[in-house]
Amino acid sequence: MATARSVEKSWRLRDRAVQSIPLATQTHSKAAREPLRGVEPCYIARGDGCRVWDIDGNEYIDFRGGLGPITLGHRFPAVDDAVRRQLEDGVIFSYPHPIEVDVAERLARLIPCAESVRFLKTGGEAMAAAHRLARAFTGRDLLLTCGYHGWVNRMSGPGVPEATQGTYRSLPWGDASPYEDAFRDAPGEIAAVSVACGYADIERGHAFLTDMRELTKRHGALLIFDEIVTGFRLAIGGAQEYFGVTPGLAVFAKGISNGVPLSCYVGRANVMERVADVSISSTFGGDTLGLAAARAALDTYEQEDVIGALWERGNQLMAGVNAHCARLGIPPRFRGLAPMPELTLPGCAALRTRLEGEALTRGVMLYTVCYPSFSHGEADVAEAAAAIGDALEAMQAEGLFA
Ligand SMILES: Cc1ncc(COP(=O)(O)O)c(C=O)c1O
Repeated sequence: MATARSVEKSWRLRDRAVQSIPLATQTHSKAAREPLRGVEPCYIARGDGCRVWDIDGNEYIDFRGGLGPITLGHRFPAVDDAVRRQLEDGVIFSYPHPIEVDVAERLARLIPCAESVRFLKTGGEAMAAAHRLARAFTGRDLLLTCGYHGWVNRMSGPGVPEATQGTYRSLPWGDASPYEDAFRDAPGEIAAVSVACGYADIERGHAFLTDMRELTKRHGALLIFDEIVTGFRLAIGGAQEYFGVTPGLAVFAKGISNGVPLSCYVGRANVMERVADVSISSTFGGDTLGLAAARAALDTYEQEDVIGALWERGNQLMAGVNAHCARLGIPPRFRGLAPMPELTLPGCAALRTRLEGEALTRGVMLYTVCYPSFSHGEADVAEAAAAIGDALEAMQAEGLFA
């Protein structure tokens, strides 16, 4: 992969970091990939709007969006100003701050299932809270899960006791039949079905989520939506608003506060009130900076057509790249819905990594799911689609799609 850009400082720092930080990062998806040595920027120095700059000074149009939370754009003035103003009053106190009430009331107004609301810091942690509540409410142990719900809820592999592994069953997106089988095989044992949408085939949600609603109701189990990616993106109220299916509980994070750490679990009041005896509690649960950012972000979602812009820019990106693929007669293409399209390249992870590398050398930062933001303009997306087209053409010229 020929590139005029240098990412030398990045890789030097990354090679130093592995001496003190396993994987050189706190987030697996941020780990620099060895096949992209000399191409991938391991460290980002700053961002502004839809662009970021690495520590070697290279500029990129950013579709990784901090891995999802940057829905409005980097350094979005209304959010950053709100955080600065809140800093003047203090960050966290030993009694709640009034902003907790304010943000909870707004979320209850915006999210269909949210009769009541509670705050935590990360998405995975809030999903664990929802799972705990569902078990306490139903008096049942078994959970059927669909999709990634954060590392604390990954219940297989080393470090997870066998007994715990037996209380989770991970099932695929889009087809109700394995869930029906599970309810038939374990009658009265399933506390909840917990669903994160599959992105490439997300339109299957119309039937699948409706089926899950009906199935859980019939068996006295709760339905939980992981809206960590879909919330404030597909619609303000997430997949439940877009598909018109209301779960008993749901979790929102990422876009809720444009990157300042905050998550919430929300839902039916009679389930949520079990937090008293389940005792879900965290020192940082009501930190005011995340909540100040959320209040400003929620105001922006309500006052400006953010969701419309995400759809428009996402559609432009999908159409632009898919047109290049069609012109070149090659397989990679965007699938799913415009605010979070998935770049699919069937069968070959190495080729996909290579495409990301080729895009990086042309100043475009891609991810498995791409995240258009409110700060991506039409010209930015046109520039990115052209660069991705060039990347695909270069790969085709090498015979990589033969
Ligand atoms: C659908 C989904 N659920 C849960 C999580 C975990 O959230 P967090 O990393 O904030 O714990 C993620 C993170 O990427 C996610 O995409």
